[in-house]
Amino acid sequence: MLDVSEASIGRAGKALAEGRLVAFPTETVYGLGANAFDEKAVARIFEAKARPNFDPLIVHIAELSQADRVVSSLPPAARALMERLWPGPLTLILPKRDEVPDLVTSGLPTVALRFPANAVAQDLIRAAGLPIAAPSANPFGYLSPTTADHVAAMLGDKVDFIIDGGPCRIGVESTVLDVTGERPVVLRPGGMPVESIEEVVGKVEILDRSEAKPTSPGQLPSHYAPHTKLYLVPSGGLAYAKPHGKAAALVYDAASKEALAHAHGAPSHFRTIRVLSESGDLLESAARLFSTLHELDSGGFDEIWAERLPELGLGRAVNDRLFKASEKR
Ligand code: TXA
Ligand code: MG
Repeated sequence: MLDVSEASIGRAGKALAEGRLVAFPTETVYGLGANAFDEKAVARIFEAKARPNFDPLIVHIAELSQADRVVSSLPPAARALMERLWPGPLTLILPKRDEVPDLVTSGLPTVALRFPANAVAQDLIRAAGLPIAAPSANPFGYLSPTTADHVAAMLGDKVDFIIDGGPCRIGVESTVLDVTGERPVVLRPGGMPVESIEEVVGKVEILDRSEAKPTSPGQLPSHYAPHTKLYLVPSGGLAYAKPHGKAAALVYDAASKEALAHAHGAPSHFRTIRVLSESGDLLESAARLFSTLHELDSGGFDEIWAERLPELGLGRAVNDRLFKASEKR
């Protein structure tokens, strides 16, 4: 585990340049980084995560000029978004340069590019002097890490360094936006609200999350999942839930908790009720989502029951993660 001193970051940057794996904080979740041009280093990411090779990685940069090393052309929409919303939790799908290994992009002609808004991530990428390929630093399919401790617990023995930059400010992964077609398409809702993207490029399409497309695995139906069974119900629906065994409820705000506590029957079935944001703040809910799920998942519960959040702003990203974590009935 490394602190965020200049010396530590310099050491980690050097390790990346030498083909090693470094877990580092971003504003969204912790990433597991490797030199994007080093196929062997990238292969180690897949090995560490037990991630299928058909799931492409995001390449991270810390200066706009680094984009030229990775992408072959920039559609006008991409330029506008980069100018207005980068650095930030927005990943753009762009035509790739031949130099980017196929392993990074799963053989796709496109590459996912992101400029994170986190000083530690930026310093690390600059110290390495390279674009860094990095998925979230969790075993494939499991909950994403939002603290260095999450990474240490899940992948501690598989990475060379973990940089502890504290908890992630946003807490859900970046929004993935395909800008290679006529109209931008959101492949994965995330930390950049769709509303902010539409202010720059107008109406975008949002891929239906019930449509599982193996070509864009962010869309894999089962993902971001705790080991404990998770059931997702509509907002306010927990009052009618029929949990079994030792069950935990995950509610949006204080009002939901209050309503559940006063409902007949169901509340007594829940051993605990956890609130994502007392005041009903969508940003706070997103920031606390994964750490709350990590806690519940190690709390010895038989079931977790969650309610949907309002489908706007970061609520979309939280609902997407809860949906993908949930049992399909
Ligand atoms: O916030 C984030 O995006 C974090 C931090 C570490 O930056 N990273 C992250 O990476 O969430 P990962 O690998 O867990 O998710 C990357 C997503 C996947 O859903 C993948 O399918 C999609 O991006 N993706 C990557 N390259 C793609 C491409 N060429 N076309 C379509 N989707 C792509
Ligand atoms: Mg991931």
